[in-house]
Amino acid sequence: MDKLVIEGGIRLKGEVVISGAKNAALPILAATLLTDEPCLIKGVPYLRDTNTMLRILRSLGKHAELDKGSVSVIPTKHSNFIADYKLVSTMRASFCVLGPLLGKLKKAKVSLPGGCVIGLRPVDLHLKGLKALGTNIEIEGGYVVANTAGLKGAHIYLGGEFGSSVLATGNVMMAATRAKGKTVIESAACEPEVVDLAEFLIKMGAKIKGHGTPIIEIEGVGALRGAEHKIIPDRIEAGTFILAALITKGDIILKNVCWQHLGALIDKLEEAGAAIKKTDGYIRAHLRRSLRPINLTTLPYPGFPTDMQAQAMALMAITRGISIITEKVYPDRFMHVAELNRMGAHIQREGPHAIVEGVKQLSGAPVMASDLRASASLLLAGLVAKGKTSVLRLYHLERGYENMEEKLQKLGAKIWREKE
Ligand code: EPU
Repeated sequence: MDKLVIEGGIRLKGEVVISGAKNAALPILAATLLTDEPCLIKGVPYLRDTNTMLRILRSLGKHAELDKGSVSVIPTKHSNFIADYKLVSTMRASFCVLGPLLGKLKKAKVSLPGGCVIGLRPVDLHLKGLKALGTNIEIEGGYVVANTAGLKGAHIYLGGEFGSSVLATGNVMMAATRAKGKTVIESAACEPEVVDLAEFLIKMGAKIKGHGTPIIEIEGVGALRGAEHKIIPDRIEAGTFILAALITKGDIILKNVCWQHLGALIDKLEEAGAAIKKTDGYIRAHLRRSLRPINLTTLPYPGFPTDMQAQAMALMAITRGISIITEKVYPDRFMHVAELNRMGAHIQREGPHAIVEGVKQLSGAPVMASDLRASASLLLAGLVAKGKTSVLRLYHLERGYENMEEKLQKLGAKIWREKE
């Protein structure tokens, strides 16, 4: 296993090109199961997670290859409706093959994705929505076994204890494209990745309105055709590079970025002291003045993204004063707190809150990545810490950041890979 070693203290400067969004690419790849025709998906990042999704598509009877950022998905003669435990258990997003399989084949057997270090991640909303469309669902041997005599449109309230669900909205929306009649999803997730999925489905011939709002309407159609689509830029990767500029007191220009998807983050960072210039497809980030503490609360889109919470905490850890971070999407997503403290941060967790008392300097240390965004947070801390930081369990980072090491090196960071 590899680890990343970072020698901190360098101001990052230069340009970085943001990759396609992982969380848009994964459900869009799953959506190709809805058609018997070839699809071409461009701007797909080369990641451990996208590779897992391609393996799942192959196991379900598609020919799927990623070449120079494009995936062509071509049907084979054999289709399968069983998504295996070994693949689904490694990545929660694979659960969103359930909706397309039901829509296309009227049956599916998909392993339950299981727990996760960022907290309990149930699938009750996925199942509630699919049942409302007329699916029989049983849990057998750790699998969701689902079948339907024919999906029927329905009015579905899909909000849960923590608000809307991104992948449940996607799963139900995909199934509903093939249901008879009209489906209304109320309390739908509004994330840009859900909008991108809807845009792809529309290119395939689906009739969808209201995506990007909490009420999505889908009029079922008889069949979907193949389509070509380009994935939106990854807003979380972009946000991580903006933070890399601020934490190192550097100056970074981001290209292939959609600033319109980063409203809550940009607002908070400007409050903290950032100067963020934005035009179409372009962001420049640097500090306007010395950093001041901020309070932030994660919420479903357009609120502050939970996927940026750990990285924002790294910035607050070196911002003098007290910042309070409240996690409202995954109240247990705080595994990075202990590791940041190992680097000299003063962070105390109180239930869904983290109280961050900024320190003058972090000091490099060996730290353990517990999940994807926690590893990005530790990497950011390592970029500004005194001395060497080693981030262990690098595979978490590789799940969601394409060429992170090379991109940081190009910006001037001293970062390299070593055997653990
Ligand atoms: N929830 C339920 N029941 C469900 C589904 C979700 O109670 O059936 C709860 C969750 O436990 C959580 C909240 O609803 O408290 C929101 O979860 P959501 O379903 O929106 O999460 P997700 O769709 O499984 C996606 C991203 C995550 C991101 C969340 C929230 C993908 C592949 N994953 O997950 O991304 O944190 O939305 O924005 O799109 C990451 O990229 O690091 C990552 C974890």
